Amino acid sequence: MNSLLLLAAVVVAGQPMTEEPAMEELRSAVIVSQLSLSHQTAVLSELLNATREHNSFPQGPTCPYPYTLVLDECFYLSPHKVTWEPARRHCRGMMGDLATPKHLYAIRSFLLDVAKVEEIEHLHVYLGFRDAGRNGTWRWLDGRPVDAADWGPGEPSNSKGNEYCGQFRSHFDPMLNDIFCSTLNRFLCQYHPHN
Ligand SMILES: *[C@@H]1O[C@H](CO)[C@@H](O)[C@H](O)[C@H]1NC(C)=O
Ligand SMILES: *[C@@H]1O[C@H](CO)[C@@H](O)[C@H](O)[C@H]1NC(C)=O
Repeated sequence: MNSLLLLAAVVVAGQPMTEEPAMEELRSAVIVSQLSLSHQTAVLSELLNATREHNSFPQGPTCPYPYTLVLDECFYLSPHKVTWEPARRHCRGMMGDLATPKHLYAIRSFLLDVAKVEEIEHLHVYLGFRDAGRNGTWRWLDGRPVDAADWGPGEPSNSKGNEYCGQFRSHFDPMLNDIFCSTLNRFLCQYHPHN
């Protein structure tokens, strides 16, 4: 059946691979026309099934090591804790930046899974948002304003009067928190191949 499949594929695609396309196409058409109608139907049905099967395993985006795919973005969670600026430098040194995820609840799920594997209760990680002007205006590093609905309960609190860096708390809902930029935290990088 495989040779018939190939033949059918050539006929369907209309792109014969020889240097005499017209001749080859004619030959293929003649051979297919010589098959019984039920045989043609079977060949096309198998071709269709093969196409369907192929499409049910789409070749989605992939992430280069050491990044992990979460939905359609690539992230790296540091095992160690540093302050915000070194965290950002680390991310920029690996073709990325501190993470600016489109889907915060996907990140929550990802971090809760990591916490479970590491047998820790929760994760506090630096993300790529901050109050750069120290005037209460919070933005993601990609320029988007931080959505007021994404702050944890009572946040941003600026409780110590000096909290200008962005943190994500896996057990908060919503998850964003403001924190001292000199706090030691793990951090989440996001891959940006074109940076
Ligand atoms: C194609 O798939 C359908 C539905 O799963 C099945 O009934 C049929 O037998 C398959 N045809 C071939 C040629 O494998
Ligand atoms: C806050 O600071 C940022 C960055 O310096 C600036 O772009 C923005 O206009 C300031 N906003 C206010 C309300 O002062």
